[in-house]
Amino acid sequence: MRGSCAQRRPAGRRQVLFPFLLPLFYPALCEPIRYSIPEELAKGSVVGNLAKDLGLSVLDVSARKLRVSAEKLLFNVDAESGDLLVKDRIDREQICKERRICELKLEAVVENPLNIFHIIVVVEDINDHAPQFDKKEVHLEIFESVSAGARISLDPATDPDINMNSIKDYEINPNPYFSLKVRVNSDGGKYPELSLEKPLDREKQRSHRLILTALDGGDPPRSATVRIEIFVRDTNDNPPVFSKDEYRITVSENLPPGSSVLQVTATDQDEGVNAEINYYFRSTAQSTRHMFSLDEKTGMIKNNQSLDFEDTERYTMEVEAKDGGGLSTQCKVIIEILDENDNSPEIIITSLSDEILEDSLPGMVVALFKTRDRDFGGNGEVTCNLGKDVPFKISSSNNNYYRLVTDGALDREQTPEYNVTITATDRGKPPLSSSTTITLHITDINDNAPVFHQASYVVHVAENNPPGASIAQVSASDPDLGPNGRVSYSILASDLEPRALSSYVSVSAQSGVVFAQRAFDHASEPGLFSLGLRTGEVRTARALGDKDSARQRLLVAVRDGGQPPLSATATLHLVFADSLQEAELQFYLVVALALISVLFLLAVILAITLHLRRSSSPAAWGCFQPGLCVKSGPVVPPNYSEGTLPYSYNLVGMI
Ligand SMILES: *[C@@H]1O[C@H](CO)[C@@H](O)[C@H](O)[C@H]1NC(C)=O
Ligand SMILES: *[C@@H]1O[C@H](CO)[C@@H](O)[C@H](O)[C@H]1NC(C)=O
Repeated sequence: MRGSCAQRRPAGRRQVLFPFLLPLFYPALCEPIRYSIPEELAKGSVVGNLAKDLGLSVLDVSARKLRVSAEKLLFNVDAESGDLLVKDRIDREQICKERRICELKLEAVVENPLNIFHIIVVVEDINDHAPQFDKKEVHLEIFESVSAGARISLDPATDPDINMNSIKDYEINPNPYFSLKVRVNSDGGKYPELSLEKPLDREKQRSHRLILTALDGGDPPRSATVRIEIFVRDTNDNPPVFSKDEYRITVSENLPPGSSVLQVTATDQDEGVNAEINYYFRSTAQSTRHMFSLDEKTGMIKNNQSLDFEDTERYTMEVEAKDGGGLSTQCKVIIEILDENDNSPEIIITSLSDEILEDSLPGMVVALFKTRDRDFGGNGEVTCNLGKDVPFKISSSNNNYYRLVTDGALDREQTPEYNVTITATDRGKPPLSSSTTITLHITDINDNAPVFHQASYVVHVAENNPPGASIAQVSASDPDLGPNGRVSYSILASDLEPRALSSYVSVSAQSGVVFAQRAFDHASEPGLFSLGLRTGEVRTARALGDKDSARQRLLVAVRDGGQPPLSATATLHLVFADSLQEAELQFYLVVALALISVLFLLAVILAITLHLRRSSSPAAWGCFQPGLCVKSGPVVPPNYSEGTLPYSYNLVGMI
């Protein structure tokens, strides 16, 4: 470092340039004296012995006033020793900034003679600065879809020191996702870069914290750190997931419309729009879509209409959940409808007999019906009942088919029609029932004979009636219906002997019904009287002749229009008189005579009784005891009441 003037430089040129300054600056043109010091030396530190290096003695230092000068004077000269000393802080980074070589130029001046020497103090860098990052913390975002191997540039640290003391390396804390690569620029600058080692998954880890360390090459090295937080940005890499693959629920068919039936829920691990889920029906029958509504946002399924088990027992639908990124999943929803007893049984009359004869035997089928209940199980099981007090019963056959049969005697004349109420009840809780009433009309049969209102008639008739005069009326009634109850009258015989009656009519021993023994033929009857066929009115056919008896007896018959017809008879006693007074007189006379006869008869009986008592004949006595005496001769059947001659008439005849 010893500086000395080089005399070999070409002097001519300089002489041209600076002819008058040459003596002054000549030494300055010599090689400068060079010193090298590290920066930041303490004040007063010795840079070098300037006097010695200039070839001056210690005495010369003060004698020739050795000193240094510069624009900014950082050095001074020790007046005694001639050492160049550090006068002020020397910060290489401040003085030389980025320059790789930092030289301070100064001049040493001596007087007597005045001379100037050039001095260069080279300031060496020391590692007096640590690397530095702009920020303490850095936030980065990276999509989770970024594949392994991707690079992320990071801001480099800065270090004002140079060369070895500047930044040498970067490090990050070990972690499975990122590694650090240091890129070297063409100018030698080093830049850190993160390299993705394996794919990120936001759903597993939303952010990663790293610490980046910048190291310089000093000895000891200095470092700086920055915290790096890497947020993983979502990509739609997760489809929605339903809480169940299959939702199954059972609801009552009574569920009112608009009720919430079921809520499906899907979740999506993504975030933001990628996790916004909408629900839709998919591959679901149109009828089902009408029945249920699905809230797109909430996944709530409601019944839009009334449910009906009898209509549909089960609905199957598919619901799709779709996120905002377009990923979707499906689930199955099964809604089973529970039967409620909401249907009453129905009664369907399939056939109804239109002719129920009143003599039908028990067990005759009069109607067929079936029941139907649309409910399920016990709710649809039906039993049938009939109202009380009807001569019918239900005879059930299988498959809800029933027969309504007669169960007792029928009598149209008593009850011409029955309103039969059939009640069908199911086994629901509570049970439902319905009933239907059918009217059964009983068909008439000719089971009633006509009956005369009187068993016998006694009529007094004026003697001189013109032919065709109405003299009497008989009437009979028949409770049967229609032709069976339509009566027609006829004269069976006139002025008959009692014994002859049986040849015309017979009487049923059981019912007392009179049956005709031969055809009644009133058209060829040559008698004294005629009888109105329908009216029962008795008229004279001709005038009463002399030969005609004043007492006439007619056997009158009535018959109905049934097949076969039933009939009855009655006797009509006609008493003719000249006038009504004569007839009345005659009547009283008859009564008086009858009384006398009775008294006479009683007297005779009394006499005979007394006589018999006296003779004590038991045989004769027994005849007065009823039932012991057998009479002989013609006998009128005891139940032939209508034809029996009245007692009074007999008496008159005897007299
Ligand atoms: C629900 O019912 C109403 C009325 O019956 C109808 O207007 C509407 O369209 C139905 N909604 C769906 C989703 O079927
Ligand atoms: C049967 O019902 C009909 C119609 O309700 C009614 O007119 C009729 O009187 C009823 N008959 C009987 C016997 O109750």
